[in-house]
Amino acid sequence: MSLRFAIAAGFAAIVACQGTEPHAPQTQPEFKTLTWVDSTADPVAHLTQQPATCLSAPTDAAVRRGELLFNSPLLLGGQAAKAGLSCAACHRNGRGNPDFVFAGISGAPGTADVTSGLFSKVRADQVFNPVTIPDLAAPDGRVMVDRDQEGALEAFLSAQIIEEFSGAEPDKAVIADLAAYIRSLDVAACDAASDEVQNWSDEMVRLRVGADHLASVRSEPAPAYRLAMRAALGRLHERYPASLFEDISQELVALGRALSGPGGATALSARLDALERDLERGERQSYYNEAQLARMLR
Ligand code: HEC
Repeated sequence: MSLRFAIAAGFAAIVACQGTEPHAPQTQPEFKTLTWVDSTADPVAHLTQQPATCLSAPTDAAVRRGELLFNSPLLLGGQAAKAGLSCAACHRNGRGNPDFVFAGISGAPGTADVTSGLFSKVRADQVFNPVTIPDLAAPDGRVMVDRDQEGALEAFLSAQIIEEFSGAEPDKAVIADLAAYIRSLDVAACDAASDEVQNWSDEMVRLRVGADHLASVRSEPAPAYRLAMRAALGRLHERYPASLFEDISQELVALGRALSGPGGATALSARLDALERDLERGERQSYYNEAQLARMLR
């Protein structure tokens, strides 16, 4: 296990485990994403830009919940989850990822062998056959499954999570939300060739979508939503590390703890309002700021 990997995994454990305070201050923050980014790619660009958002129904609640889940490593199982890979690790913002390199899975950068035995024994085909990660918003990213046929995409997604990525059988609502997100991905809804800036507000949107869902449903939703929210908190923590942002860091850990089991969702929305103000205030010193990030990484 590389040091970068170990630190990233250690941080995930902090957010995931209730009650554990961050231990030794990090001398250099670690970004989990960089563990699967090609070494020749520019890390600053990779962490500050992302492919354009191409959604035909960007405000639809199911689409937004699907987007939250799509970014959660904890939807997958086995080695993929252990490594911290989410759907979005390969399909950035629902698109492709030309920088993706994962030992044993990738050939050239931007490719992955999703039938590798490393991720799952079920679909393992003993052949190393990595293919280009498709842009799910583009026409050539919709060849494997007919999205218009009711139930086909849902069946594909369940099978994919269980068989390809050794995940547990996902809740029906989780699959429905993921399917809504994938159906909404469409290059016709954006300037597909452009990039957009990554910002804390992406994570805030996800956290609010999750909080609204916890507050609005009568029975406790599948754990996947809370886990996805904790993953979002973890990503914020990478950008606002304890060594620079003691208060924000403590609140991120506290929110992670509040989300670690049923209940704890009370007053979440007010806490997110306060967090948002702090994130905004700290933005220029955070690792969302390109100059700060460049100073530290280059
Ligand atoms: C390790 C990288 C990786 C991860 C993680 C990943 N995918 Fe993919 N995905 C691929 C590759 C590569 C293909 C193309 C496979 C092929 O052509 O055989 C693909 C294909 C797909 C397709 C079919 C596209 C079409 O042509 O119709 C969908 C939908 C999809 N992925 C959704 C997801 C979802 C949802 C997740 C998370 C549960 C996910 N992917 C996680 C790499 C990945």
